[in-house]
Amino acid sequence: MSAQTMNTRKGNQVLDLLSKMTLEEKIGQMTQVDFTVIGIPPEQNPTFPIDPQKLEEAVLNHHVGSILNTPFTPDNKAQSIETWRKMMEAIRDVSLKTRLKIPVMYGIDAIHGVSYTQNSILFPQAINMAATFNTDLAYQEGEITAREVRASGLHWNFSPVMDIGRQPLWPRLWETYGEDVHLSSAMGSAYIKGHQGNDFSAPDKAPTCLKHFVGYSFPINGKDRSPAWIGERMLREYFLPGFEAGIKQGAPTIMINSAEVDGIPGHANHHYLTTILRDELGFKGFTVSDWADINRLYTRDKLAASPKEAVKMAVLAGVDMSMVPFDFSFYDLLLDLVRSGEVPLSRIDEAVSRILTVKYQSGLFDFDRPMPDPKDHFATPQALEINRQAARESIVLAKNSDHLLPLKKDARILVTGPTAHLLSVLNGGWTITWQGDAEELYPQEKSTVLEAIRNKSSGTVTYIGGQSFDDEIDIDKAVSEAANHEFILLCLGEKPYTETPGNIDSLLLEPRQQKLAEALLKTGKPVILLTLGGRPRIITALAEKAAGVILGFLPGMEGGEAIADILFGDYNPNGKLPITYPRNTNDIVLYDHKPIEAFEWNVYNPLYPFGHGLSYTQFETTALTLDKQELKLGESLNISVTVKNTGNRTGKETVLLYLNDVAASVSRPVKQLKAFKKIELTPGQQKTVIFSLMPDDLSFIGVNLKRIIEPGEFKVMIGNESRSFTLINSAETNL
Ligand code: BGC
Repeated sequence: MSAQTMNTRKGNQVLDLLSKMTLEEKIGQMTQVDFTVIGIPPEQNPTFPIDPQKLEEAVLNHHVGSILNTPFTPDNKAQSIETWRKMMEAIRDVSLKTRLKIPVMYGIDAIHGVSYTQNSILFPQAINMAATFNTDLAYQEGEITAREVRASGLHWNFSPVMDIGRQPLWPRLWETYGEDVHLSSAMGSAYIKGHQGNDFSAPDKAPTCLKHFVGYSFPINGKDRSPAWIGERMLREYFLPGFEAGIKQGAPTIMINSAEVDGIPGHANHHYLTTILRDELGFKGFTVSDWADINRLYTRDKLAASPKEAVKMAVLAGVDMSMVPFDFSFYDLLLDLVRSGEVPLSRIDEAVSRILTVKYQSGLFDFDRPMPDPKDHFATPQALEINRQAARESIVLAKNSDHLLPLKKDARILVTGPTAHLLSVLNGGWTITWQGDAEELYPQEKSTVLEAIRNKSSGTVTYIGGQSFDDEIDIDKAVSEAANHEFILLCLGEKPYTETPGNIDSLLLEPRQQKLAEALLKTGKPVILLTLGGRPRIITALAEKAAGVILGFLPGMEGGEAIADILFGDYNPNGKLPITYPRNTNDIVLYDHKPIEAFEWNVYNPLYPFGHGLSYTQFETTALTLDKQELKLGESLNISVTVKNTGNRTGKETVLLYLNDVAASVSRPVKQLKAFKKIELTPGQQKTVIFSLMPDDLSFIGVNLKRIIEPGEFKVMIGNESRSFTLINSAETNL
């Protein structure tokens, strides 16, 4: 059956179903509740977390269309795959008892793997995936995650985050693919492709959800859920493209910005949710609110004078489903609003038909559909190997004085610092629990950095440190032990967090970490500084004195092993920074800054620039060639460059192609990434890498706020070389 015939058939099914539904049933579809609404505390039933009566109340009496999250015991926490499968069967069985047999769609934050199913494959977080510059790995992560979501019986993944990471203080920076528009669009698209395939009703595929539309990631004060001020040009240049790419890739759901932009809370923004999202971007799927955010239009934002007005505002602005999450208030209030004529039935029908369409597309109406067998769909050895590879490629070697690294296996190493011996610091938030900090729940067979080093080492490895992140470290002892060792591996960084609990007031490292570092750097022993955590905490003075710097960010469950692989040279590092690493707390100038930010006294002088990352071998990029000097609309510009491995180890190199618009009617970035390719080269080997740019790649948001292509001179830059060409004609585009 062709895709078009299939869609028409689904469209007919939806219309048919809609025509049979009562108003209550329709509004129920728009209601999403948290697990606690159907859950039973473990002290009342230790073997099964669902209360059958509460489940019936939600699904049969309130007709809820969706449930999210994991049992609350006491913090949201991972369940065994068997428990999940049983819970999902119970929910399916109750859906089958509904008058019209409409399935409940269960959503989960499987943001780096199916985080609430015990022993799942937990990948590097998005910031690390971006550092791999490897879209194949993003695709494989999507594939494996969807498979494990489905093997757990779950239906829908609140991922990927397509917000762009341009505010390093923001405690969700690490959930993004970094600061660059092209890189995040490419990584997010590849992930969605792997997750959904061509048909996400397939037994091992699942629908994704783009988050959080739009502008959430750019709070002016760096705190989560606080205002952004984004002009329309900036919105269109930086914040919309990732969502556009995700929609083009077929993501059928979108979650809404939990904060506000230009004074308008995301959930009340008709211009964003309807004019831009529907009329311009052509999004056909459904939107879901973020946690409690409709009611927050009343309780927090003071836009609405009552909870009821808040519901009216949000639904009329374009919110299709409400993550309420703890009660049926949305359901009751919306019923009233439709009965009184304040919200037209046509708007309800529109929202419900979008929701039902996605349920059909996801195969949920096929109640007999078996869940994939965990034996070959869950935590398989192949998936584990892919995860380890992703972790290795996600780690950035930022400094390596005198080729100090890799270390010999028999080296005498002192390992210290609060991130040396914990699994949680490798994984970050959304791991087993929401905040990811319940170290005691982590799988014991996984290795911390210290354990992975011990497993590989044939020398002496001494650990000075505590059992938890906040434990005091005996600095004097560490300093005196340093004398007995050749190297110090100093592991600093952040403990896990996400969302508002992760807010900080400064990017500076904690004083106690700073103190430990300074004392050890004074010993004169070579210090290898390893940082783990979701944000670039300021390490400038330490990095200058350290002999080596490894930026680990959040490399996931295999992160400890991957770091040890790199430290001892079992793997040649190739991760590159997907963000600019600031030199100082207020030094927030990004790589694609405007000329004025690097003019006269202004400079782009980060500690490490975007794209930085060393290898144990060296690469030389030469012979940058353009196939034409003049480009016309409709033509492509072919660009080639030669990359040679001039060192003595096999390694991978990402070739980054940047563009600069020499003169334009709106100030343009000094350079902007337009393409990248990752290749592997053996010692002495060289390859020609070919890129192709289309005039659309030269477009920007013009004076009239429309995307345009303007004639004139452009520069292509790869490595240390640059070449110019001229675009002959201009155009307004409808990209
Ligand atoms: C977060 C979302 C998440 C949702 C459901 C919210 O607090 O902002 O990213 O998907 O909770 O857990």
